[in-house]
Amino acid sequence: MNKITKNFLWGASTSAYQVEGAWNKDGKGLSVQDVSAGGFIKGLNVEDITDFKVASDHYHHYKEDIALMAEMGFKSYRFSINWTRIYPKGIEQEPNQKGVEFYHNLLDELIKHKIEPLVTIHHFDLPNYLEEQGGWKNKDLIVDAYLRYAKTLFNEYKNKVKYWQTINEQNMVVMFGHLLSKQFTGVDNGQESYQMFHNMNVAQAKAILLLKTINKKAKIGVAPNISLVYPQTNKPEDVLAAHNANLIRNWIYIDPFVKGGYDQILLNFWKENNYKIDILEEEMKLFKKAKINFIAFNYYSSMSVKAPTKDQDFKVGDQQMGFNLENMFQSAKNDNLQVSEYGWEIDPIGFRLTARALHDRYNLPIIITENGLGAKDVLTSEGKIHDKYRIDYLRKHIEQIPKIINDGVKLFGYNPWSAIDLVSTHQGISKRYGFVYVNRDEFDLKDMKRYRKDSFYWYQKVIASNGNNID
Ligand code: BG6
Repeated sequence: MNKITKNFLWGASTSAYQVEGAWNKDGKGLSVQDVSAGGFIKGLNVEDITDFKVASDHYHHYKEDIALMAEMGFKSYRFSINWTRIYPKGIEQEPNQKGVEFYHNLLDELIKHKIEPLVTIHHFDLPNYLEEQGGWKNKDLIVDAYLRYAKTLFNEYKNKVKYWQTINEQNMVVMFGHLLSKQFTGVDNGQESYQMFHNMNVAQAKAILLLKTINKKAKIGVAPNISLVYPQTNKPEDVLAAHNANLIRNWIYIDPFVKGGYDQILLNFWKENNYKIDILEEEMKLFKKAKINFIAFNYYSSMSVKAPTKDQDFKVGDQQMGFNLENMFQSAKNDNLQVSEYGWEIDPIGFRLTARALHDRYNLPIIITENGLGAKDVLTSEGKIHDKYRIDYLRKHIEQIPKIINDGVKLFGYNPWSAIDLVSTHQGISKRYGFVYVNRDEFDLKDMKRYRKDSFYWYQKVIASNGNNID
């Protein structure tokens, strides 16, 4: 039954601003995350949550952290490069050499341990200077800035990196930017959001084409957060709402780079809402040529919806909690699923269904670049972390992998969130995800010592047995 091949990429993920710290070291500029004060939800400041300035201090601990990944048996490590280490403001003509050097060192360390780097070019940490000029809404500025940055990375690391991802969770930035940094303004799920959406697509298309000219052997993919959307009932109106939601939440972020353009239903939606998106013909032509090699996707949960009602409120959720869209769908609770202590629904079968749906629509190799459980871990006086709940969550998802592969889906790796503890996007360091515990609290930085959690030893066994021993 287990058809997982020997070269399956078992590993885990992090992102630069959530793990590195060293926010102002070695010429690094300010990102939108550095100027955000810890946890907040627009209009609701959560003051008891840390900022990202020190995070897990991976910048100074990367050798130790990578050694721990190697000890777990990682075949791959998915991480992102911090744009402001390379281009502090985003507009410089020459990169910051110290930043470039840091990632050379990190990559060398991975290569030394035979861990395949899966590199995300951009993960939520836009240079703040660019944001102040309109960020992703300012097409003229941002497309060039992103391309110059991507070009530097492609040239610098061409002998070290085979797998690139363009932008982490473009869909979450477009739909929930206000949750990811208070610097992201004007995100309204309307005109401005869709202009951002298009500008990001142009930037990604150009980067995809550029990579092929610099390194023919490299592979590149997009990395959205994909949750298959279920209808709450079998009422045709609910099924239609689910179809709409799948399109708006998931597929429109992949379509341009596989199908070569925008879905008619999306174009109709823009028209009905009188959104006038500035799109040039030559930009649409890019999508005909800029093809991805694989789809990286982050999966935490499924989502359920029903037909929209007239009096629906805009539901303030977060990246996994669902949302409403006028005349399209209304978020609904799935009573068949349990939720994590942070309210995220847990749905391992949804993982299989999501993988199948991606395969059906795109027929490309796919890789999981995030999946995991945020929880409040406890460090015991013996230095242990008994995170059985995390093992249970991961086991139930890993159990699906042989089934997914047997379904004919080209799944080539599993990289859950997160390799080590890091600071959550908007819920602090207490919401932990790692296999390795980092000894700090929201405000007390303690000694930053690393401790192996129970899930560390469990995942080590899973990898060593190539997914056969998941007990
Ligand atoms: C994904 C992001 O949305 O979910 C990560 O790519 C993030 O950056 C992860 O940390 C978990 O979400 P959160 O909000 O619990 O940190």
